[in-house]
Amino acid sequence: GLHAKFVAKTGKKYWGSCADAGLINNAANVAILRSDFGQVTGENSMKWDALQPSRGNFNWGNADTLVNWAVSNGKLIRGHTLVWHSQLPSWVQGINNRDTLTTVIQDHIRAVAGRYAGKIYGLLLIFLLYLTKLSVSEILNENGTLRSSVFSNVLGESFVAIAFRAARQYDPYSKLYINDYNLDSNNAKTQGTVAIVKRVNQAGKLIDGIGTQMHLEANGAGGTLAALQALAGAGVEEVAITELDIKGASSNDYLTVLNACRQVPTCVGITSWGVSDRDSWRSQNSPLLFDTNYRPKAAYNALISAL
Ligand code: XIL
Repeated sequence: GLHAKFVAKTGKKYWGSCADAGLINNAANVAILRSDFGQVTGENSMKWDALQPSRGNFNWGNADTLVNWAVSNGKLIRGHTLVWHSQLPSWVQGINNRDTLTTVIQDHIRAVAGRYAGKIYGLLLIFLLYLTKLSVSEILNENGTLRSSVFSNVLGESFVAIAFRAARQYDPYSKLYINDYNLDSNNAKTQGTVAIVKRVNQAGKLIDGIGTQMHLEANGAGGTLAALQALAGAGVEEVAITELDIKGASSNDYLTVLNACRQVPTCVGITSWGVSDRDSWRSQNSPLLFDTNYRPKAAYNALISAL
């Protein structure tokens, strides 16, 4: 399958997909996850609104389902996401006190990072391969400045270090990522991401990696190599393509993304944002590697041939 070939060619890089309980219980989808993907990211199950819909009340069901499936099927897991302005419950959005919000961020991260890191590490004992990767998502505007959210409005840029310090404390084994969209070329947002990572890491290394989501338009993959190289220039251990989908799914665009990740030593892998066009959040754009009947598309065949 795709992942196995990518690993064979590169020695280590993974190709993954997002998934969750419904897609794991979908026979056609899970068969492809097993054969072609080596890593999973929770599509929605690890978001704040799913895990902690009201203060102190956690719903672990769907996230546990995904983690248990990944562990028993030998798939790497990326955690998604610890701190994000979106899919954030209103009880968090309404906090306007610095100390309260700091405690709430720390409590959330302690619960989530603590639950999965130890479990996966302890179960598999090969944490170099099966490491979780935890992220803080979408904190910048297109011009590289800090995005307005309850986190930045109440705590300023300090929320970034607060979150990463907590993640490091409660899960010392996982790689900690910043993750954002439109980091598709060496643009202002990419440069802003590099700048904030350098600032935060100046006081002690907190951010291990940068994820570029890559929700691309047709013919939009041309800047991928420049983006990955610029992000790697922040001095992080890793960069990753975390949510790849491409309008029209042309073979050429997919090959361009593949080759960019192959050329950048710090690029650890590529995650497709779904297996098939049937289940994609952009399903009307035909963006993925398998069609609405779970059949491989031309872009899939092109990747397999190139590997
Ligand atoms: C999307 C999911 O795919 C949808 O099911 C959900 O309704 C909305 O979120 N950037 C991200 C992902 O970081 O979490 C988003 O996933 C897509 C955009």
